Amino acid sequence: MRKAVCPGSFDPVTNGHLDIVSRAAQLYDEVTVAVLINRSKTGMFTTDERVEMLRETTAAYGNVVVESFHGLLVDFCTARSIGVIVKSLRSVSDFEYELQMAQMNKGQGDIDTVFLVTNPLYSFLSSSLVKEFATYGGDVSGLVPETVLHRLTERIERGTS
Ligand code: PNS
Repeated sequence: MRKAVCPGSFDPVTNGHLDIVSRAAQLYDEVTVAVLINRSKTGMFTTDERVEMLRETTAAYGNVVVESFHGLLVDFCTARSIGVIVKSLRSVSDFEYELQMAQMNKGQGDIDTVFLVTNPLYSFLSSSLVKEFATYGGDVSGLVPETVLHRLTERIERGTS
């Protein structure tokens, strides 16, 4: 069984993330989307909400599971016999930090990282930009799935962003 993990903050999941997860799901038998629980940083959505949105939007793939984690990604992978981390590269500026993390994860946990090149449709896309745009009234439909759009709109209207 070839297993891979797609890790991230996913605050919230975007169409760019889903493009990578769906491509990973074609390359591996089982893909775990791992949502980082970051206790030192509060996001727009709670970890449970992020997991819920990811479960809703990846349910159709069939071989994707969604979990949250804290601590080291290599420990998460080792505990589940996952040998590969799948990450996306949007631009050259992503590369330097991603390379460092990949080398660290290889050295510390013998976990390989496979990079998928982002679909150019989403090369500018990030969760932070989506939140900022949406907060100031920008149209982010087409950048996030419908369920995320609803929750974003609701959160912003409630003024708790
Ligand atoms: O979506 P993000 O915030 O860019 O994702 C970053 C993430 C979660 C992949 C990275 O911060 C991570 O792997 N964190 C877990 C802690 C860890 O293993 N740190 C060492 C990385 S070499």
